[in-house]
Amino acid sequence: MGLMFFCWIASLLYQQICAAPRDHGFRERPLLEISKFWHISDLHIDPTYHITEDHTKVCYSSKGFPASDPGIFGDFMCDSPYELILSAFSYMKSVDLEPEFIIWTGDSPPHVPAEKLSTDTVINMISNMTLTIRQFFPQLPVYPALGNHDYWPQDQLPVNENDIYQAVARIWSPWLQPEALITLRKGGFYSQLIKPGLRLVSLNTNLYYGPNKVTVNMSDPAGQYEWLQDTLELSKQNMERVYVIAHVPVGYLPYAKNTTAMREGHNERLVNIFRNYSDIIQGQFYGHTHRDSMMVLLDRKGKPVNSIFVTPAVTPYRSFLEQYSNNPGVRMYLYNAQDYGLQDLWQFYLNLTEANQEEKPNWRLEYTMTKAFGITDIQPESLHELALKFEAPDSKEFQKYFTYFMVSYNDTVTCTEECKSIQVCSVHFLDHESYSECLQKVTGGDF
Ligand SMILES: *[C@@H]1O[C@H](CO)[C@@H](O)[C@H](O)[C@H]1NC(C)=O
Ligand SMILES: *[C@@H]1O[C@H](CO)[C@@H](O)[C@H](O)[C@H]1NC(C)=O
Ligand SMILES: *[C@@H]1O[C@H](CO)[C@@H](O)[C@H](O)[C@H]1NC(C)=O
Ligand SMILES: *[C@@H]1O[C@H](CO)[C@@H](O)[C@H](O)[C@H]1NC(C)=O
Ligand SMILES: *[C@@H]1O[C@H](CO)[C@@H](O)[C@H](O)[C@H]1NC(C)=O
Ligand SMILES: *[C@@H]1O[C@H](CO)[C@@H](O)[C@H](O)[C@H]1NC(C)=O
Ligand SMILES: [Zn+2]
Ligand SMILES: [Zn+2]
Repeated sequence: MGLMFFCWIASLLYQQICAAPRDHGFRERPLLEISKFWHISDLHIDPTYHITEDHTKVCYSSKGFPASDPGIFGDFMCDSPYELILSAFSYMKSVDLEPEFIIWTGDSPPHVPAEKLSTDTVINMISNMTLTIRQFFPQLPVYPALGNHDYWPQDQLPVNENDIYQAVARIWSPWLQPEALITLRKGGFYSQLIKPGLRLVSLNTNLYYGPNKVTVNMSDPAGQYEWLQDTLELSKQNMERVYVIAHVPVGYLPYAKNTTAMREGHNERLVNIFRNYSDIIQGQFYGHTHRDSMMVLLDRKGKPVNSIFVTPAVTPYRSFLEQYSNNPGVRMYLYNAQDYGLQDLWQFYLNLTEANQEEKPNWRLEYTMTKAFGITDIQPESLHELALKFEAPDSKEFQKYFTYFMVSYNDTVTCTEECKSIQVCSVHFLDHESYSECLQKVTGGDF
């Protein structure tokens, strides 16, 4: 990656012009033609949020626990006030980074008990978020995925047509083609060719989520595995490249020992399919954990074959059981416009404490991945190299990664010993066999 490419990015970011002295008689084109898209996730709007003296009554999502320090843009014990969501979209619009599309990986309703919501209120919240995004970005295609909260009662996403799948197929019809709407209506998933040779696959991984009682014991809920395999096979034959988006991520949780985000058996099957088609999958993008993390899928011989990203939430919410939270974040990816390979990611965030104090939403860049970690791009090989550096005892790279994990919520917290082992194993090992091996190795004291 040349200086010119860097300057070009810097000029977009800081709206400065990089002087490009040239002594040849022709204009050199950038080596790489770069395109960009936004990734937003876990908006979790809480319409009950309001500032009041009794801190236990600021928002339903705090479930009677006191808000910590409520301000206009929210509180770490609460889901997002509408004001916070507006500030995120205003910022995304004002920085004007010329995105080509937006991916949106689900979870619009708040974390409240089932009796506070209903099928209608859930549909209204998804609809409200959709209309809000369209007001800010009327020209931009948006590719959504359903989250475990985008259903009533939460997590119970069914395997056939129902009021909510039907409603989202209607609400999202401006963005999706008729063919995509057919499978969305039936099973909550779809695929769409979004540029020549680039297919987006939006999975309903909530079907594989542990708390989903509807799909317990089902080997292929809604026939999604078979559909995925057929879709990827056809893509391969048509020489397409694929971006996979979904809410609940594959692999192991970075903060809970030996725990997959979805059911273990369902995770194994998905990992196998992704390994089989890793040559055409150029990136995987998830949400749900509300934290910023990455994974590198290794093939059966240990070669890095896929880059996988979990984007942090817009909501700053934490439950009363959790010690730490995250600042609100939104993210942009840069990709090679020729082969759709991922080049970089820019993580933006709002320091919520500061925004509330100053009554001004000062969204800004948190980090750019290549610069922060000294890597050339965010391809599987580069992420793999970086992840190996994490293993060193006082790895500066890992400390940085962990600060960003909570979107700079608290940069004095450190993650060592078991905390670090769990993080590091989750980056490299997505299937049961290799993950177990990693755990054994680290409890044996290897790092
Ligand atoms: C979305 O909901 C907020 C309040 O929760 C309301 O102020 C706003 O008008 C709604 N927007 C749309 C587009 O329905
Ligand atoms: C799932 O399978 C287990 C073991 O076969 C059985 O005990 C359980 O009742 C089943 N659950 C459902 C919801 O079918
Ligand atoms: C991890 O969990 C699985 C079951 O989910 C269990 O079989 C295995 O023994 C556990 N491994 C470790 C190292 O705790
Ligand atoms: C992976 O591909 C091989 C060869 O094409 C096939 O036999 C196998 O069933 C596939 N497995 C999965 C999980 O897709
Ligand atoms: C966020 O703002 C607070 C209050 O101004 C400040 O103490 C804290 O250091 C800031 N955090 C970051 C990561 O800048
Ligand atoms: C940040 O972390 C430090 C060290 O663990 C802790 O003492 C402090 O209370 C934390 N601050 C917040 C706001 O959580
Ligand atoms: Zn969520
Ligand atoms: Zn979720």
